[in-house]
Amino acid sequence: MNVQSLAFAAALVAASAGALAVLPAGAQNLDVIKQRQEAMKNIGGAAKAAGQMLKGEVAFDAAKAAAVFTVMASNAKEFGTHFPEDSKTGGKTEAAPAIWTKPEEFKAELAKFEGDIAAAAATKPESLDAFKPAFASVAQNCKGCHEEFRVDN
Ligand code: HEC
Repeated sequence: MNVQSLAFAAALVAASAGALAVLPAGAQNLDVIKQRQEAMKNIGGAAKAAGQMLKGEVAFDAAKAAAVFTVMASNAKEFGTHFPEDSKTGGKTEAAPAIWTKPEEFKAELAKFEGDIAAAAATKPESLDAFKPAFASVAQNCKGCHEEFRVDN
């Protein structure tokens, strides 16, 4: 078998595995909706912790600042894996139809978010002054993606 036919065989296996995972038409994959909402909740929690430090409600702490980016990175990755076709509706999801009609744009938004988180984490902020711009570069992604890919319920 050459490389191309191997790749083709692998694609066939992947396609049939995908077909098996498809639920009857109209079924709602509530678990997956819950999982992605949990992931976003964790991201929201990390953003809140960052906000408290930025507002001076909680003293700046380099370990806490690093944790903001670690939590966001793992949850952003997790979030991106929970958008099968059978999860467009149900479970009070706020996922916009655009996620499925413009999947490339959605993936690009998510990739940018993850890239900005990694870049911010790499600056390893040791002071509030250093944390501020690092967090701002991450936080600009929230509104951008929500405007296009999240509906307000
Ligand atoms: C790549 C797109 C994208 C980015 C970037 C993004 N979000 Fe979200 N967010 C969504 C989508 C889509 C939903 C709706 C998910 C659902 O209901 O199925 C959501 C939902 C949420 C929720 C509600 C979760 C719940 O159901 O309780 C919070 C809170 C949230 N986002 C916070 C944030 C914060 C804070 C940031 C930035 C640090 C952020 N999001 C960045 C796409 C994004």
